[in-house]
Amino acid sequence: MEDHLTVGRVAELADVSVRTLHHYDEISLVKPSARTATGYRAYSAADVERLREVLGYRRLGFGLREIATLVDDPATDAVAHLRRLRGLLREQRDRTAAMVAAIDKELESRVMGVRTAPEDQLKIFGAQLYESIGSAYPATRRTEPRIAARIWEALGDARTVLNVGAGTGSYEPTDRKVTAVEPSAIMRAQRPAEAAPCVAASAEQLPFPDRSFDAAMAVSTVHHWPDPLAGLREMRRVARRVVVFTYDAGTTGWLERFWLTRDYLPEFAGLLADWPSLADMACAIEGHAEPVLIPWDCADGFFEAHWRRPEAYLDEHVRRAVSVWTRVGPQAEQRAVDGLRDDLSSGRWADRNRDLIALDTAELGLRLLVA
Ligand SMILES: C[S@@+](CC[C@H](N)C(=O)[O-])C[C@H]1O[C@@H](n2cnc3c(N)ncnc32)[C@H](O)[C@@H]1O
Repeated sequence: MEDHLTVGRVAELADVSVRTLHHYDEISLVKPSARTATGYRAYSAADVERLREVLGYRRLGFGLREIATLVDDPATDAVAHLRRLRGLLREQRDRTAAMVAAIDKELESRVMGVRTAPEDQLKIFGAQLYESIGSAYPATRRTEPRIAARIWEALGDARTVLNVGAGTGSYEPTDRKVTAVEPSAIMRAQRPAEAAPCVAASAEQLPFPDRSFDAAMAVSTVHHWPDPLAGLREMRRVARRVVVFTYDAGTTGWLERFWLTRDYLPEFAGLLADWPSLADMACAIEGHAEPVLIPWDCADGFFEAHWRRPEAYLDEHVRRAVSVWTRVGPQAEQRAVDGLRDDLSSGRWADRNRDLIALDTAELGLRLLVA
């Protein structure tokens, strides 16, 4: 017991209240492994290490449920957590420094009698989607091995691979020389330390000469690009082979087939209006499309992944890692979630979707474009 710290001492050292530590214990986020003879909570070195991770993510603004998923992930050890925290903190520091510089500039301009334009005032918050949702991403987004196998097979014998819109690198093959491209600093900061080198750039302007890579890949990213067709043409320019995992937005029949968009979130159709058709995307890379069926237990938590596990969509951190929910807005999201919750408890969802239970895979409009 001598090597344990009492709850009061831990609270003092970490500058948090004893009440906070009791709460973390009650919700099983950090459970002290022992009690003193007088019944006080006592923390071992391992408990303290876990608490440090929890407090680190908390400082960065993560919610307690998200943090629980992060610290319970068996694939992330203490060193990986430290590396990730370090990356995120450096990112936060850089953003703070950039905001201070922008504010100084505006103060100076005001002294000179110059007013800053409204657009420039907002620029200091860098309000891009992935800068705001990126920190929730690793909680549920990871490699789905069956989809990874399809992508890697399509890469053929490519030795050098460019991964565009790479995010945290979920689908990067480890047996080839990969270069990643990712415009969001938050996403770059969350790449594991051993991940491939990552360049800060956008698909539409790849900073590489023609034919620099054997292959270029892009996974679940094309619909985030301001100009998808220009980005795809860039991939074609810099690589001999192109592999893209994406969604068929032209054939809206999928909206009717997927119960989530059909019965709860018809607003998804509105997002598709701006997306290029599959035919135009295939044309941009001079390739063809192959269907990708989604397994019922898909490990990567993208929008369609939980088609046979409807309860998952009630979980806030499942939704926060998928941009669709942020894009449709909080009202549509709340209505969809409330409706689904009611239908699950009344048995209406099960009545309507009886056929799904017998399926192991579903065709929901996901496609692999290969050139
Ligand atoms: C849903 S994530 C997918 C990440 C990764 N490919 C994966 O499968 O896990 C979409 C990614 O596209 C990136 N992105 C957004 N706009 C982009 C652009 N114009 N060029 C390249 N990537 C972009 C986002 O920052 C984000 O990391």
